[in-house]
Amino acid sequence: MKNVVVLGSTGSIGTQALEVIKSHPEQFRLLGISGKRRTELLAEQIRSFRPSYVAGPEAFPEEFLLNGACRFLPGEEGVCLLASLEEADIVVNGISGFSALAPLSESLKKGKTVALANKESIVCGKPLIRELLDAYGGTILPVDSEQSAIFQCMNGEKKEQIRRLILTASGGRFFRCTWDELKKVTVEQALSHPTWSMGSKITIDSSTLFNKGLEIMEAAYLFDIPGERIDVLIHPQSIVHSMVEYEDGTVFADMSTPDMRLPIQYAMTYPDRIPSLCRTLDLAGIAELMFFRADPARYPAIRMAYECLRRGGGYPTAYNAANEAAVAAFVQGRILFTDIYDTVDAVLQREIPRPEPDLKSICECDRVAREFAESFIGSV
Ligand SMILES: NC(=O)c1ccc[n+]([C@@H]2O[C@H](COP(=O)([O-])OP(=O)(O)OC[C@H]3O[C@@H](n4cnc5c(N)ncnc54)[C@H](OP(=O)(O)O)[C@@H]3O)[C@@H](O)[C@H]2O)c1
Repeated sequence: MKNVVVLGSTGSIGTQALEVIKSHPEQFRLLGISGKRRTELLAEQIRSFRPSYVAGPEAFPEEFLLNGACRFLPGEEGVCLLASLEEADIVVNGISGFSALAPLSESLKKGKTVALANKESIVCGKPLIRELLDAYGGTILPVDSEQSAIFQCMNGEKKEQIRRLILTASGGRFFRCTWDELKKVTVEQALSHPTWSMGSKITIDSSTLFNKGLEIMEAAYLFDIPGERIDVLIHPQSIVHSMVEYEDGTVFADMSTPDMRLPIQYAMTYPDRIPSLCRTLDLAGIAELMFFRADPARYPAIRMAYECLRRGGGYPTAYNAANEAAVAAFVQGRILFTDIYDTVDAVLQREIPRPEPDLKSICECDRVAREFAESFIGSV
């Protein structure tokens, strides 16, 4: 029986992690949960799972705390305490955006095993995370379906014999659109994904391909492979989650019906495999799997991600910060869809400070980049 903490339990990853826990009561006990704005859902999760801890907004009503049986940990500090609980065997980190980095670093300082869905924290916090893993002996098991696929395709193989990683991308709804067509994309259109049902930020990132840009950097950092040996293929069916090619030309691919409950569960049961809620893959029913080259020259989010990997320093953090600021501005109706690319491009033209491997310094780099992004957005 593993004690599981789910950070971001009210989100897309979080609710699916709870489904996995519910489907295997003999394997998992939900020790703690956290949410930010969706307090009613958080209260409902407390009622059905009876966790020992909940972290949420300061004003969380006491009446939901099971007469004191569920301990309340308030605010950001509470999320960090939850992320580092002594009794936790595994921490699922499904918080969205840069905010996941502080709790991730607290988990790693306690040497925890983290099932990590959040990609922004790896992209921005790489030097710090590497130090914490080395110093405290924690483990990161990837949940992001592409990284989970690569992790599985590397099982039992020699890393030095890898020729390249091949990340697949559904391409979202707009990968064939011209720039003029992209200019007219509405928030509603950007929020509907053809194959995955996810939180709003990652759905928009999938439609701009910034999600793939973040994943290129995430893969480079998680598996310690240089950007030149990471390729992207557009694969609209989202059946092949990613591939690894070896020196002899063998390519391992990880395939399944697109269902995040599978990589979430695998990270929670690793190295074991147990029955899951994912539907069996019917390849004959699908009949055709398509792949298209994702030319970085045509996809600015991918081109800029490779550029940030090459430049290193604060540039990956700036890429993420500028994108987060631009996505928020797009959702608020302040800028056009194509301005998201222009915002990130403009921020990457600026001098970005190189962060030290500590949270304060990385947060400062993130702040500076957001300021540059806001000033560009204000001028659009
Ligand atoms: N969804 C997927 O299928 C998927 C797949 C691969 C990777 N990922 C990655 O997983 C992460 C989560 O994605 P998601 O789609 O699950 O997002 P989501 O549905 O928006 O959920 C985000 C969760 O984080 C909480 N949260 C938001 N801001 C927070 C903050 N500042 N402090 C603490 N908690 C905060 C939210 O709480 P409230 O909702 O209560 O406000 C919610 O529980 C992202 O990094 C994404 O890239 C997601």
